[in-house]
Amino acid sequence: MKLTVFNGSPRGKKSNTAILLEHFLKGFMETEGNSYELEYIVNNKDVGKLIEMFKDANNVILAFPLYTGCMPGIVKSFVESLKPLCGKHGNPSVGFMVQGGFPEAYQSRFVERYLGKLAKRLNCQYLGCIVKGGIEGTRMMPQFMTKKIFNYFYELGKNCGKSGKFDEELLKRLAKPEHLPAWRRLFYKFSRLTGMANIYWDRQLKENNAFEKRFDRPYGD
Ligand SMILES: Cc1cc2nc3c(=O)[nH]c(=O)nc-3n(C[C@H](O)[C@H](O)[C@H](O)COP(=O)(O)O)c2cc1C
Repeated sequence: MKLTVFNGSPRGKKSNTAILLEHFLKGFMETEGNSYELEYIVNNKDVGKLIEMFKDANNVILAFPLYTGCMPGIVKSFVESLKPLCGKHGNPSVGFMVQGGFPEAYQSRFVERYLGKLAKRLNCQYLGCIVKGGIEGTRMMPQFMTKKIFNYFYELGKNCGKSGKFDEELLKRLAKPEHLPAWRRLFYKFSRLTGMANIYWDRQLKENNAFEKRFDRPYGD
């Protein structure tokens, strides 16, 4: 099986998306004869090249982080650039990987529905969508904390490499928790009210010289 993978994280090679894909692809390559090509959307000023890659692919996986309940702008632009391929014959089969910072898989279910529709509009066979929340800390976690999640991605890749699709049972198990129990929701409410929830993201905003712009509304009025 030949796979073309697009990493849609604005963090590119330093992203959680890259780490999860690494494990998925390790599993995928367990089947003899399999091969893949990996492209970072963020580094690509040449959208034409990305469209060509999509058009020429047999199977595509588009992987990205959940941004404001949907997708990063660079991914949306890429998806919109595929419009000329809508309904055409010979488009690749397509699967998606969406991972988010908040623990509940439920937050990604809306964009997942959109992605299913997108595959239909592009006349692509839909391979499914891997959904996982609670990933933001992954880059910094010690090995014993990430082992189980990485193993899921490895197994999903291995399975996909053999069967050409995502294993439904693995998808369900990986996605847990779908919703947080009441006591954890209470904890998040508390950390939001005390400002604790902002500490990490405020630091990221400052590191990117964006802290002062955090309430900007570039598309508002
Ligand atoms: C601008 C922005 C918006 C985000 N919106 C969401 C969101 O709506 N839901 C969520 O669960 N995580 C959200 N996140 C968290 C990212 O999905 C999460 O940190 C992810 O692991 C980043 O992956 P990456 O390193 O591959 O880019 C957001 C992060 C950023 C920077």
